[in-house]
Parts: sequence; structure tokens; C-alpha cells
Amino acid sequence: MEKKQKFDGYAEQYDEWFMKNDRLFTSELRLFLKALGDIRGKKLLSVGCGSGLFESYIDCTNVEGIEPSKDMGQIAEKRGVNIIRCGMIEETELQEEHYDIIYFNGSSSYMEELKPVYEKSLAALKKGGRLILLDVPKESAFGFMYLLGKSLGTYEHEYLKGAMPDLPYPLALASSGVWHTTEEKIEVLKELGIGKFTFYQTLIRNPLYTNEEPEEVSEGYKSGGYVAIIAEKEM
Ligand SMILES: C[S@@+](CC[C@H](N)C(=O)[O-])C[C@H]1O[C@@H](n2cnc3c(N)ncnc32)[C@H](O)[C@@H]1O
Repeated sequence: MEKKQKFDGYAEQYDEWFMKNDRLFTSELRLFLKALGDIRGKKLLSVGCGSGLFESYIDCTNVEGIEPSKDMGQIAEKRGVNIIRCGMIEETELQEEHYDIIYFNGSSSYMEELKPVYEKSLAALKKGGRLILLDVPKESAFGFMYLLGKSLGTYEHEYLKGAMPDLPYPLALASSGVWHTTEEKIEVLKELGIGKFTFYQTLIRNPLYTNEEPEEVSEGYKSGGYVAIIAEKEM
């Protein structure tokens, strides 16, 4: 029998959550588009592309995807992502110096060991290529909320009364996350030889108010509930 993946059975709930939290989604989409930049003529790999929700807003002609959850991957395929493997990045062989951009949109937050997967990704990037990591930082208000929900086993706890957004991220997905700090990821990338970084962030407001209106992207990583690290491979 095939091993059950963390996102199996959550494809619809995942997309629905973003559709209901449409302004939060717009803020994250803005960050995603800003981090990717101009992708014309570039070869991209989306690691943990999920249902391809974000990819449905870009031209996917040259976007390949890796996704362990079959039901998520099938939706991504319909949205135009070229799925090269239904499996984990850890078990996927990647061609060396093949991609201009490799990105992990929210997927590092479901991986225990980051160094081997980032090392593999950097090797698969062309010289001057970019590894882009977008995530909810463990140290952000969202990170605290998910960890508190995970440790209490519910969002319906008196500690959280009055502090929760209307439609919080599904507890099962918050609980299966391995929330990493931004500094932790920077440290791993530095150990792998990266010296050139750019950072962008969004979701600066507290989670209770995040879905009131879309937010702009700003530089840095110390305030946002969704952060992009852009690491450039040396020429
Ligand atoms: C938060 S979702 C993000 C999905 C999509 N990138 C998006 O932004 O909508 C995290 C995704 O990472 C995938 N994932 C988890 N562990 C993975 C691994 N080891 N290798 C590749 N993908 C993984 C999950 O199946 C899930 O689809």
C-alpha cells in the first residue's frame, strides 16, 4: 500500500481555505510574484507544488513540479504544471545545473531535514540561478498560532479566545508542519556556500486582521507572517 502523504485528502480543503481567505491569498500571491520576478524564457522547478494554486497565476509552460500527494498533484497538472514526479524531493534525482529558478512555496515547512534538500536544489540550479524559499516563519504570529494550536490540539481553547481569525488554517495541516525560523534556513544556506540573499515579506498584520485587505510586499524578513528568502547561486 502507498504511504499516506501529509496533504492526502486535503486538496479541496486547502484550496477552499485560500479562496475563503481571499485577501490573505492575494497578499501571498503578491509575494510569490515579486520573488519569482520575470520568468520569461526561464526553466523553473516548484518543489511541493501542491494543487498548483499559485502556479495558476503564472505561465506554466516552463514550470516543472514535484509533489508527493497524488490528489494535490493531479489538480496541479490540470492547472498546467508539468509534474515530473509524484514523490518527495528527497527521493527525486535532479539534473545538475538545469534550472534557472527552484522554489519551495510553503513546502520547507513540511520537511524535517533542510540541508540535504537545499544542497540537492542548489546543485540542480544553473550558475547565477536562484533558490527561493517562501514560508510562514516559526517566529511570526502565524507560527506561534500554529504551534499553540498544535500543542493544545485545538484552536477552540480559552487561551486563544478572541485572538483567532475567522477561518484559521486547517489544524491538521498546522500540526503536521515542521515550522522553521528564517534564521535557521539562512544558516543552512550559508553553510552551503550562499553569500547573496534578498528578502521580502508580507502578512505584517496580526492574523486576526490579515484577511481584512490585501497587503503590499516589503523588504526584509523580521516582521512578516509570510517571508521569501531568495538565495543566488554564484556565477
Ligand atoms: C503548504 S503546501 C504548499 C503547496 C503549494 N506550493 C502552494 O503554495 O499552494 C506544502 C506542500 O509541500 C508538499 N511536500 C511536503 N513534503 C514534501 C517533500 N518532502 N518533497 C516535496 N514536497 C513536499 C506537500 O505535499 C504540500 O503539497
